[in-house]
Amino acid sequence: DKGGWSSFMAKEINEQPEAVANTIRGRIENGRVEIPELTALGDDVLRNIDRIVIIACGTASYAGQVGAYALEQWARIPVEVQLSHEFRYRDPVLSDRTMVISVSQSGETMDTLMAVKYAIERGVTTVSICNTQSATIPRESDAAVYTHAGPEVAVASTKAFVAQITALYLVGLHLAHVRGTIDPAAEAAALVQLEELPEKVREAVATHEQVQQLAHWMADTRSVLFLGRHVGFPIALEGALKLKEIAYIHAEGFAAGELKHGPIALIDHGQPVFVIVPSPRTSPLMHSKIVSNIQEIRARGARVIAIVEKGDTAVLPFADEVIRLPLSDPLFDPVLQVVPLQWFALELSTAKGLDVDQPRNLAKSVTVE
Ligand code: M6R
Repeated sequence: DKGGWSSFMAKEINEQPEAVANTIRGRIENGRVEIPELTALGDDVLRNIDRIVIIACGTASYAGQVGAYALEQWARIPVEVQLSHEFRYRDPVLSDRTMVISVSQSGETMDTLMAVKYAIERGVTTVSICNTQSATIPRESDAAVYTHAGPEVAVASTKAFVAQITALYLVGLHLAHVRGTIDPAAEAAALVQLEELPEKVREAVATHEQVQQLAHWMADTRSVLFLGRHVGFPIALEGALKLKEIAYIHAEGFAAGELKHGPIALIDHGQPVFVIVPSPRTSPLMHSKIVSNIQEIRARGARVIAIVEKGDTAVLPFADEVIRLPLSDPLFDPVLQVVPLQWFALELSTAKGLDVDQPRNLAKSVTVE
């Protein structure tokens, strides 16, 4: 049941505030994050970990990339993100102090399942972040941390993505507390951020109308680029993937700092570029770098669509369109920044008369390697 929406994807984008809230619910107790499934592994195990490898495919891997920044910052453990299907073939360096965290909406993605099985054979602690109760991957893993996004029907993942990032925040804060790597003030501030997140996501969802207009004007676009820095980089990759999947448009996401190392050659008159701009208050240095990037591409004719913090006026002279969000701590902002990109893909797909929920050549769950 699409609940009155034109597609499951539209319904699921709209359900994101609840997806985030339900994933957090019951996991903040006594001024800390506690995930009973991680506690069950034993605090000694969690203290002993010296490396985390996140494995996932597609959108789930971008959630992993966002989560990696938070895990490293809070729990002070080196984290790397690997695509599940690449993981096994590189003879990865693993030990009994490694933790492998898989991220999967379905819990049945064969590439990820095979990677998890490989990790288990190598004696590694495995944690599954999954949206589907009792799926194969969480059953095989040492611990399952469920996202509570509810069933996701559209092939293009939306609410599961924000729930995956949320679950990774929770895992990061749980580990940080047990390992004593976060100071109490930073921990308290992170909990406030978490609690405020659903309401902010609601504001991000409300960008729909503005983005719909934008997509309407851009219905003939043949290529779109996305730029981001730090956690904005995986969001740029996710924005591009969404557009490829459901609007069949050539799209690429770049780390903004890479521009001058090659991609800037692509910028031509009228080339649409979405830029994820961090808050000037909380990330002044990254903000000024991104503003320079915007000036560079604008000078070469790019059509800039900037996703910014409400009240950020620095980009106004250089942007063709500005989408405003209630940004705050950069680690938490991706959950908001992705939303207008989801709407954009949906509306462009709709404007092209395509089937938003069932894109060609794709299955919701990829159960073959
Ligand atoms: O079920 P999973 O989270 O393991 O699926 C992973 C990818 O196949 C999935 O995220 C895919 O990239 C989506 N179609 C993205 O919208």
